[in-house]
Amino acid sequence: MITLTRDRRPIVLVVDDLEVNRELLEANLEDLGYDVRQARDGLEALEAVEAEEPDLIYLDIQMPRLDGLSVCRQLKSHPTRRLIPVVMLTALGDRATRLDGLAAGADDFLTKPFDAQELLVRSKVLLRERELNKRLDATESVLLAFARAVEARDRYTIHHAERVGVYAREIARLHGLGAEEVSVVYRGGVLHDLGKIAIPDAILNKPGPLTDEEFGIMRTHSAAGERICLPLRTTAQFLPILRHHHERVDGAGYPDHLVGADIPIAARIVAVADAWDAMVSDRPYRAGLGREEALRRLRGGAGTQWEAGLVDAFIGLAESPLFGELVTEAAPVSAAD
Ligand SMILES: [Fe+2]
Ligand SMILES: [Fe+2]
Repeated sequence: MITLTRDRRPIVLVVDDLEVNRELLEANLEDLGYDVRQARDGLEALEAVEAEEPDLIYLDIQMPRLDGLSVCRQLKSHPTRRLIPVVMLTALGDRATRLDGLAAGADDFLTKPFDAQELLVRSKVLLRERELNKRLDATESVLLAFARAVEARDRYTIHHAERVGVYAREIARLHGLGAEEVSVVYRGGVLHDLGKIAIPDAILNKPGPLTDEEFGIMRTHSAAGERICLPLRTTAQFLPILRHHHERVDGAGYPDHLVGADIPIAARIVAVADAWDAMVSDRPYRAGLGREEALRRLRGGAGTQWEAGLVDAFIGLAESPLFGELVTEAAPVSAAD
């Protein structure tokens, strides 16, 4: 059982261009036992976050150089910094600014002049959430480590998981999914074959085609992945990808023979990314298909194996000059690592 110990005081960053406001907030927050840092404008705030990630930020809106809304937007579009709670400091009754703050991703608001009791409650609640978020993140990191372990065992699919994640993310974007869903598709894409951890080496690395029986065992990996993640509350969002990434839109896939739109969209997307990468990669018993042949097969399976619109989106991607960059992004180190 891992116990998380708090070995440092939570860091609270106070951002305001008026010194008197910063000092007042700092004095109150220090009384609550926090390690308080100050920044005088948006740029200093981003520098402070870069230097050491705070656990909570109190952020003024109107400041020279870079305003609070821009700072908030930048933080909230960052993959990990978006988890830092941001409280915007607003003037009483300023509804328009609050709405702007919400749109920028602010977690909460504190009205100036602030009430010390309110500051205490806001800080406590948000820091507790922050702690929880960090733990959720830790769970996901463990799963990613598992996914990498699967790849390490399956020596013919180096970086397969990462590439599937990256391709799926781009298809999801082209399909018009929102930022949050795109992120789920990416992370779920990386985790999609997690269940292969339950497949014996003799089958996973067999240097020849699988028998029907072996195929049957191999096919259990999608349900196995779901089973592994089921008790982990934080990974609920990936379960449809783990379970359904081998479904086909004509219903001939597995494990549930779902048809068309009954297959969760994230799984339909990952299915295209996965199939492409499997086709062009070398396997123990065959070399990878050439690019043109893989594209031909993808087109051939549009509407039966995969959703036609998603195949189109992927082909557009594969034919764009940026595609090479995606492949490099997914495998930044040489295959010999
Ligand atoms: Fe799979
Ligand atoms: Fe796969």
